[in-house]
Amino acid sequence: MRIDILTVLPDLLVSPFSHSILKRAKEKGVAEIYVHNIRDFATNKHKSVDDYAFGGGAGMVMMIEPIVLCMEHLQSQRKYDEIIYMSPDGELLDQKMANSLSMLKNVIILCGHYKGIDERIRRHFITREISIGNYVLSGGELAAAVFVDTVIRLLPGVLNDETSALSDSFQDDLIAPPVYTRPADFRGLKVPDLLISGNTPEIEKWKHEQSVERTKKRRPGMFKE
Ligand code: ADE
Repeated sequence: MRIDILTVLPDLLVSPFSHSILKRAKEKGVAEIYVHNIRDFATNKHKSVDDYAFGGGAGMVMMIEPIVLCMEHLQSQRKYDEIIYMSPDGELLDQKMANSLSMLKNVIILCGHYKGIDERIRRHFITREISIGNYVLSGGELAAAVFVDTVIRLLPGVLNDETSALSDSFQDDLIAPPVYTRPADFRGLKVPDLLISGNTPEIEKWKHEQSVERTKKRRPGMFKE
């Protein structure tokens, strides 16, 4: 999967993709992530990427031209399946959406800033708008990092144990069961006896029951669905 991220703050996106799982995904060639500075496509002499809103109103608006030039530059090299705009009023990201988007080959992600982006970009160039939650971030970069992490870890070969993404919370509409590691007794805080019994069928049954219990308690709406 190839992801091209368009931003005015490329530095914000260096660290999230330089560690752990996402780093491994890039090293293995499973995911290619490129960050593009929209300012590199500004055509005016001040290299500005935002301007005052027509009709007034507080806040600057991201200009259409540099964004479209950057998109066209990328689209001249390959076909993109989706052009996503990270926006608080987009479709809410969940595990099902992440699963389906992880099947795509080439994706552009546009990170917004200031008061928003020129509406013509949303109407004529964006194919999908995604929100990571009902709250407003200062920009789309952190949202893009969350989205990319959620999707990339699902790609085959990214996680060491391929089954581990399948047993994530939400994958089967259930929250994952509790997990424990050594020591089995920490200052009297004990791991459930069953987990050290070696009785695999009973342990699996227990894990499922725990998942069901947790889901009923923490996400009753999800359980009913
Ligand atoms: N940009 C600002 N807030 C956002 C959010 N909640 N989700 C996606 N993009 C955003």
